[in-house]
Amino acid sequence: MTPSGTTSAAAGPPARDAGAQPAWELLLPAAGAPARRRGRALQEALREAVRSGRLPAGTRLPSSRALAADLGVSRGLVTEAYEQLTAEGYLRSDRGSGTWVGGTARTGRAAAPAGPGGPAAPAPGVVTDFRPGTPDLSLFPRAAWAAAQRTVLARLPHSALGYPDPRGLPVLRSALAAMLARRRGVAADPDRLVVCSGVAQAATLLGTVLRARGHRGVGVEDPGSPEHGRLFAATGLETVPLPLDEEGLRPGPLARAGVRAVVVTPSHQFPSGIAWSAERRGLLLDWAREVDGHVLEDDYDGDFRYDRAPVGALQGLDPERVVYTGSVSKSLAPGLRLGWMVLPGALVDEVVERKRTMDLGHPALDQAALAHLVTSGGYDRQLRRCQRAYRERRDALLTGLERHFPGTSVTGIAAGLHVIACLPARYGPVGRLLEAAAGAGVALRPLEEYGSARPADGAVRLVVGYAHLTPSVIDEGLRRTAEALGRR
Ligand SMILES: Cc1ncc(COP(=O)(O)O)c(C=O)c1O
Repeated sequence: MTPSGTTSAAAGPPARDAGAQPAWELLLPAAGAPARRRGRALQEALREAVRSGRLPAGTRLPSSRALAADLGVSRGLVTEAYEQLTAEGYLRSDRGSGTWVGGTARTGRAAAPAGPGGPAAPAPGVVTDFRPGTPDLSLFPRAAWAAAQRTVLARLPHSALGYPDPRGLPVLRSALAAMLARRRGVAADPDRLVVCSGVAQAATLLGTVLRARGHRGVGVEDPGSPEHGRLFAATGLETVPLPLDEEGLRPGPLARAGVRAVVVTPSHQFPSGIAWSAERRGLLLDWAREVDGHVLEDDYDGDFRYDRAPVGALQGLDPERVVYTGSVSKSLAPGLRLGWMVLPGALVDEVVERKRTMDLGHPALDQAALAHLVTSGGYDRQLRRCQRAYRERRDALLTGLERHFPGTSVTGIAAGLHVIACLPARYGPVGRLLEAAAGAGVALRPLEEYGSARPADGAVRLVVGYAHLTPSVIDEGLRRTAEALGRR
């Protein structure tokens, strides 16, 4: 391989030339991966090279054609890797200037040991409930879960039934760390991972620790999950709504908010469905470093992506500033109350101590069963199964909206379990639409319930959950609503 010849073409912002070091050799094992895994392996290797500092900030990358030739892979794979890592904020690119490594905080391999708010119970008479928040509970893998429970009960020594490690069972922490690194690009060290009762407890634990450290407030997205506000408020912190635009949190209001912690949903913002731009992800981390603050990244539906590769977790860009949290609430069932947080080194001891005093650790058998499901491949199978079903339902929703509410535009469709539907003003005002729907046994939730902004254009914006409804139920619910509205 001759890296030096591949890096000289582009001019522009980048300061360094990767040709000075044999950095591309890092990518060779990925290039040799079996064809169906090669693209992902390449992305992982590139991400890891940036994280570990082997490719420092400012390093100019070869053209996709040159790197593809050096590695002996197709150019499309390299282009895809560049695009994906640019979307995640690891790389920057500019027409005419090529692609270079962005200004991410390096963790160094050695240094880095590394809301809820599902629909309320349906009101009497509700036949079709489009309110967001729940997965399809009938897809819960009962047989696989029962088998996992039987297996762990048979295998676990008596000692495993004592009070568990408040961080979580080591076997589960290792399994989750590997899975989060692989699926979400999280810089996950099992020693920094705490098993908890979902994102809800992660927020409570972090809020309690921040309060004890002297924080008075925490920023929340507006529009955002009402549960975030409620959970942090319960820890004694004031919540400060921070406005979003189509790229993510607006930097001005964030800088003026007077807080040093925020909770965000950058991969698939709740409820708007946007993926934060790479620039806003970078600016948020710059802000956190400047104020010596922290970001809670709620990756509540990070597993479900339909039309493009998932946007990797923000946490991977700066594991010392970002607390990453997720749960099985969307992938298995919220009733399991099983989740995790991956912590910056400086917060680990305090969070673990709070977890210990809160409940003396998480139920051991459920942890062991989840570890078995993850390590046996059952969890990945479940995700693939849900992904197929949810994609089909999303497509049914898009078709149904077009058929029954022509002129509607839909955003946030690439991921998650809900979309934002923007109905032209002729279907409004929103109160009339909601009443007509309720009369037809259909529950809908307007976007304005999630934040302070009111649409000025008269359009009706709805947050429409679809994952828990079959295609025929989706179509029938939309048809009934349109018919009831037509009678008014
Ligand atoms: C924004 C957001 N975060 C997190 C969750 C899930 O929380 P938990 O993991 O505690 O079940 C939800 C559930 O609806 C949510 O809407």
